[in-house]
Amino acid sequence: MITVESLSKSRGGVPALEAVSLAGAAGTVTALVGPSGSGKTTLLRCLNGLETFDAGRLSIAGHDLAPGPHPVPRLDRLRRDVGMVFQQFNLFPHLSVLDNVTLGPRVVLREPPEAARDRAVALLDRVGLAAFAAARPATLSGGQQQRVAIARALAMRPRVMLFDEPTSALDPTMTAEVLDVIVDLARGGQTMVVVTHDHGFAKRAATWVVELAAGRVARQGPAAQLL
Ligand SMILES: Nc1ncnc2c1ncn2[C@@H]1O[C@H](COP(=O)(O)OP(=O)(O)OP(=O)(O)O)[C@@H](O)[C@H]1O
Ligand SMILES: [Mg+2]
Repeated sequence: MITVESLSKSRGGVPALEAVSLAGAAGTVTALVGPSGSGKTTLLRCLNGLETFDAGRLSIAGHDLAPGPHPVPRLDRLRRDVGMVFQQFNLFPHLSVLDNVTLGPRVVLREPPEAARDRAVALLDRVGLAAFAAARPATLSGGQQQRVAIARALAMRPRVMLFDEPTSALDPTMTAEVLDVIVDLARGGQTMVVVTHDHGFAKRAATWVVELAAGRVARQGPAAQLL
């Protein structure tokens, strides 16, 4: 499902990623760990074409990306299959929780409104937020907003989900709520790549761990062995 081969990227002559290689089979969860500035976010953003790279190749959910600028139609296709959840939830503040979740399916996938609505309700139920469908995001806690962001990404039926430190803006209780949702997705066989500093969580959710240091893969291996 995911193949990264000798991926390198520099910014203004400073290397951000150097010869990074990894592979993720369908149904596996890869945890990206490593110190601040080691390139975790940069690598994750390369995986859905938010960043370009200079050398190497990358394939995700059947979409191939090459060095240099990515053609827009290719990115549009890729992003239908690759969902991303950010540190800051980036919900649409003027839309209800339900409309946040149905927007992508209605506009991008052209799902009929009733079908999109039924599925959104089911997804909100799955993340424990069925009662909040009519609420505005601003009235929800951070943990609740992050779970809406996860439901919104899942509504697009992504083949791969990418998470960039999904709990770093949350307190411990809210963190646990969000991590439980991600562990539940992992058990359900969703292919995922998760950037995290939380080794306990990585042990619980991940099958494979890639540790970056200064833009290079320092170690990688099965989560049970590496952590
Ligand atoms: N937009 C940018 N412009 C210039 N340099 C950047 C940019 N984004 C990241 N960098 C640099 O690239 C390197 C890798 O950053 P990246 O954000 O990928 O690290 P990270 O592992 O995600 O760190 P953190 O754990 O703090 O989120 C760092 O040296 C960082 O300063
Ligand atoms: Mg980061």
